[in-house]
Amino acid sequence: MRVLFVCLGNICRSPTAEGVFRDAIAQKGLSIETDSAGTAAYHIGKGPDPRSQRVAEEYGYSIADLRARQATAEDFHAFDWIFAMDHQNWLDLEAIRPADSKARLVRLLDLPDGDLGDVPDPYYGGEEGFHQVVKLIRTAADYYLELWSSK
Ligand code: 4NP
Repeated sequence: MRVLFVCLGNICRSPTAEGVFRDAIAQKGLSIETDSAGTAAYHIGKGPDPRSQRVAEEYGYSIADLRARQATAEDFHAFDWIFAMDHQNWLDLEAIRPADSKARLVRLLDLPDGDLGDVPDPYYGGEEGFHQVVKLIRTAADYYLELWSSK
């Protein structure tokens, strides 16, 4: 199985999501591949925002190795799950989704137990926003790791 996390810039939310999920996947011993991408091309080739890296480290996640890239239509054939961080990301992905794609495109926090809304973009805000990103992503990771472990 392959899962992709997508936000706008691929330097804050989606690399954090990849870091949280890949850690949880490794802890469960599952063989699930992860990647992340942005809907925009602004930051292609760059590592995660230093604020994201620092806050992720506080929770025990290292994301320094990740590099930004842009999401493509081919991703819909390469991945089983594509997680959009917010509603706009979902709309932008839906717009490039090939008609014959079998990938499941879902907003990360649209959980069966209740829709927690968007993962808010922390880029223009303060440190607390980066902590909120990690906490929300962990909630989704708890749900999906349980789902994937039981299969
Ligand atoms: P991300 O955050 O989508 O979580 O990576 C952003 C990063 C960069 C920009 C916007 C959001 N930007 O406008 O450059």
